[in-house]
Amino acid sequence: TTVALLFGGRSGEHGISCVTAGGILAAIDRERYEVIAVGITREGRWTRVSADPGDWTMVDGRTPEVDPSGDEVLLPGARHLPGEPITLRTVTGGVVQDLAEIDVVWPLLHGTYGEDGTVQGVLELLDIPYVGSGVLASASAMDKAATKLVLGAAGIDCAPGIVVHEDRWAADAHRVATHLRNTYPLPWFVKPARAGSSLGVSRVTDPAQLEAAMKDAFAEDPKVLVEAGVEAREVECGVLQGGEGQDLSTTLPGEVKVGADLEFYDYEAKYFGKGTVSIDVPAALPDAVLEEAREVACRAFRALGLEGLARVDMFVTADHRVLVNEVNTMPGFTPYSMFPVLWENMGLSYADLIAELIDRARS
Ligand code: DAL
Ligand code: MG
Repeated sequence: TTVALLFGGRSGEHGISCVTAGGILAAIDRERYEVIAVGITREGRWTRVSADPGDWTMVDGRTPEVDPSGDEVLLPGARHLPGEPITLRTVTGGVVQDLAEIDVVWPLLHGTYGEDGTVQGVLELLDIPYVGSGVLASASAMDKAATKLVLGAAGIDCAPGIVVHEDRWAADAHRVATHLRNTYPLPWFVKPARAGSSLGVSRVTDPAQLEAAMKDAFAEDPKVLVEAGVEAREVECGVLQGGEGQDLSTTLPGEVKVGADLEFYDYEAKYFGKGTVSIDVPAALPDAVLEEAREVACRAFRALGLEGLARVDMFVTADHRVLVNEVNTMPGFTPYSMFPVLWENMGLSYADLIAELIDRARS
């Protein structure tokens, strides 16, 4: 099987995607899979890049980047027909050459133009099998406001919140702030609707901080969510989908515990060791609560029409109510990331998890 690993990309999570690719490149069984590494630059060019995991590690606390000077990679044209070989080509010095015939693409991309249905749409159009969710499911899970609508309609609880659009903010700021003060006790969480890894997210403990928090969020997305903070523990559950028509399997949930030195589990805490964070796998919660969280994760997976894999992030309140925080259709995937660690705890090794996902790729 030849798999094209697609990583980097145009979103703020470019570097995280590259690190994740490094983890997979190191662990994938090269006897079973031939790997073609395709890096997407921050500008959006698809390029031929190194498949050596050593080239995709953090150096001096900085994430790696896809070098824009690499040879361009071309997908088959729109006239590619189902069943025809899928040939990637490269352009070297203006000359087009065949690169490889591939069987499947793994869009190992986080955030916009990757995890949001756009790349999935291109792959659908070209009839190329790929790992993970389809267009609508990816788009709905990427947009936290859309996620709430879908899950709410399915009777799944989420943190309450409102949507604010950047072009209305200047005119609406006072009305929105008044509404928030009258409706939700502090703190509030301000989040770009379509971003990941907590980029642009702020915890607001005083209404005077709202303006600055909105600015930070609008820097990531013109659509922003202000949510009521939920007093709860944060648990995450891995979901895998079996072959066609098969049941879902879930992991025991893990818990992210954030120390008093952190306001919340932000970007720096997630990837750069800021503050005290500990991960409990499985979460130290009563069995019935763990089961409830797994059930909620499955219901969310089905309600959103997801495919392949997801990490469902949830809140568990003191009285053991389970709310969905957000759903990641391509969660962080280094050997130390929550999703693989959760599966490892269930007895599925990192290398086997990688193989499972490629082998189950949909066409
Ligand atoms: N968006 C990051 C990569 C995650 O959810 O793991
Ligand atoms: Mg999360």
